[in-house]
Amino acid sequence: MNSFIVVHGPNLNMLGKREPEIYGHHTLDDINSSLTELSKELCVLISFYQSNHEGDLVDVIQAAAGLHQGILINPGAYTHTSVAIRDAIASVALPTVEVHLSNIHQREAFRHHSYIAPVAIGQICGFGLHSYHLGLRALVTYLHPSV
Ligand code: DQA
Repeated sequence: MNSFIVVHGPNLNMLGKREPEIYGHHTLDDINSSLTELSKELCVLISFYQSNHEGDLVDVIQAAAGLHQGILINPGAYTHTSVAIRDAIASVALPTVEVHLSNIHQREAFRHHSYIAPVAIGQICGFGLHSYHLGLRALVTYLHPSV
């Protein structure tokens, strides 16, 4: 059975309270619970990690090699700044899907560039909680294209 790690970056622990007009009313626990339900339907294992610290995110990505078959990541604001997270993803060479709750391309210009997108198999943004669901389905489809 494939195992994936879901990595949430900075400030995503504030979901529910944080700018709900942009990020919606779901909490991080709501997102993780709904992903756990979806993982059962898709017959995959998932685990979760959230950190506000760039180095911790690098560590968990490095540790994913050998443990997981793919990464679903919302790097939060580090999307737009972090060469270190980009390099960590490139170094483990695990299929990685980048997700965002909001449509980063509709927002401020500084959010339009992603350091992560060139090392991801794809990017999904703008669908709120469903961005994560679509991202998990994308990972499964990538690894099992005939399903
Ligand atoms: C975000 C978009 C980022 O620009 C922002 O810094 C976040 C959340 C999203 O999920 O829409 O923290 O990644």
